[in-house]
Amino acid sequence: MSALIAAEGLHKAYGPTVALGGADLIVHAGEIVSVMGPSGSGKSTLLHCAAGLTVPDAGRVAYAGRELSRMSDVERSALRRREFGFVFQFGQLVPELTALQNVALPLRLDGVSRRTAERRATGWLDRLGLADKARARPGELSGGQQQRVAVARALVADPKVIFTDEPTGALDSIAGERVMEMLTSAARETGAAVVLVTHDARVAAYADRSIVVRDGRSSERAGVR
Ligand SMILES: Nc1ncnc2c1ncn2[C@@H]1O[C@H](COP(=O)(O)OP(=O)(O)O)[C@@H](O)[C@H]1O
Ligand SMILES: [Mg+2]
Repeated sequence: MSALIAAEGLHKAYGPTVALGGADLIVHAGEIVSVMGPSGSGKSTLLHCAAGLTVPDAGRVAYAGRELSRMSDVERSALRRREFGFVFQFGQLVPELTALQNVALPLRLDGVSRRTAERRATGWLDRLGLADKARARPGELSGGQQQRVAVARALVADPKVIFTDEPTGALDSIAGERVMEMLTSAARETGAAVVLVTHDARVAAYADRSIVVRDGRSSERAGVR
């Protein structure tokens, strides 16, 4: 099976700080991979490089065999919009838009008609138990509900890879579990791969495979399923 995401030999420094010093991340279609490690170890930087949000100083990142560094900025942002979904820790929803408009946004930005975008967004809100919150704005939702809106938005464009960085970091454990269950079951159903950055072992337990990042270097974690 060839890799969907192949990030190899990544180096990234911010001034004197080495964020990545030779990290790899391989993700196959449909697999859920967790990226664990202590705070400051380079997990977020690795995710950002693999998703084409940050350009590494050295190393290569390929998506489905195409090297990101060879794409134009326009091609890379089209790739992110069409093939990737993102869920971050919090504060990622547009406060002025309703839940429905937030979920529909990636499709609208990609030129999908409002009617079609809102129909698909409604389907995902229903699926995530938020049918009655479609018209609410983020400020009127709990943290867990906001994260489920973010999950719906990450899934609406039918991505091949969902990148998530501490998606439950701001939630209590029950709300966090609910978000993780919904995210992973939706990913299994749609066949999307998930890159799950977390320092929480309970969250990493949702993954098929785990890698550990320490001081900017990655290694495969033994003994995980
Ligand atoms: N934009 C940035 N500017 C300066 N330093 C950064 C930046 N992003 C990350 N770093 C530094 O790189 C290291 C790795 O950070 P990060 O990838 O965010 O780690 P993690 O997500 O594992 O906590 C840390 O020392 C952090 O302070
Ligand atoms: Mg981080």
